Amino acid sequence: MRTIALAAGFGVLVPRVLRAGSGSGACAPTTPDIEGPFYLGGSPFQVALAKQDEPGESLSISGIVYANDCTTPIAGAVVDVWGANNDGCYNNNNECSPHGDDRFNLRGRMLTNQQGAYAFSSVKPGRYLNGATYRPSHLHFKINAPGHPIVTTQLYFEGDPYIPVDQWASDPASAGRIIPLTANNGALAGVFNITLDVPPGESGIPYNQDAARALTMQCSPNPFRGDTVITYAVQTADRVDIGIHDITGRRVRALVSSVHGIGIYNERWDARDDAGRQVPSGIYICRLQSGSCVETMQIVLAK
Ligand SMILES: [Fe+2]
Repeated sequence: MRTIALAAGFGVLVPRVLRAGSGSGACAPTTPDIEGPFYLGGSPFQVALAKQDEPGESLSISGIVYANDCTTPIAGAVVDVWGANNDGCYNNNNECSPHGDDRFNLRGRMLTNQQGAYAFSSVKPGRYLNGATYRPSHLHFKINAPGHPIVTTQLYFEGDPYIPVDQWASDPASAGRIIPLTANNGALAGVFNITLDVPPGESGIPYNQDAARALTMQCSPNPFRGDTVITYAVQTADRVDIGIHDITGRRVRALVSSVHGIGIYNERWDARDDAGRQVPSGIYICRLQSGSCVETMQIVLAK
């Protein structure tokens, strides 16, 4: 049973001590880092990223997302996290086990609350070999305030002997993203505050507990029979195209193709193709494109 008391969750104050990205204590936006090859779009909104029986050390991370004055919290920011398992393996790598069949294990998105806070639990990622040396334990993040660019970065942990030999972790720009972990009721806990280059007061979509569940894209029910509703967020006013593709990549249905303003939208798919014919049971890919951003999501039709 994996039970973690999050170090700082919703409604709990987080000490404003670590100004992520600053390194020197000065106010500066959180620095970017490489994305790596294992990102998956469309992670569910969840705060417990690991399966109950996931091997490894329990880890909880919490923090506040700030505007570029390093003081004003940003509500409704999206914090998208993914990490390797205890063996240093990502679950979209076929060698992963035992939860390699769950594509969103050790992944999840959170939405900052009205105090700008986010929090999640997972397991401490294992190191993995990159060339001749191991990459230090790290978590990947994508963070953005609605309507503003996504910051892709990585979080490292103090004392990891592989930080000095890792070209990304040892970069001086990463200094503000190496945090201490403390033992907390048998779990490791750390605070990662994030500063976005967003002026105070420009957080885009107003915080809304219900609408906010669906920032980016999700689908319910899934698997489905009959029809399903795709909910998606537009974070920058732009043209949006959503298509349903079969497993070969062929588009079977053009669902949406129009200019959207910032907001949350719903679109129903009735399991029919462009000609109005019922499509067969199976796996389909919903592909959303807005500007240069593309997000895909798997939908399963089970009749
Ligand atoms: Fe990685």
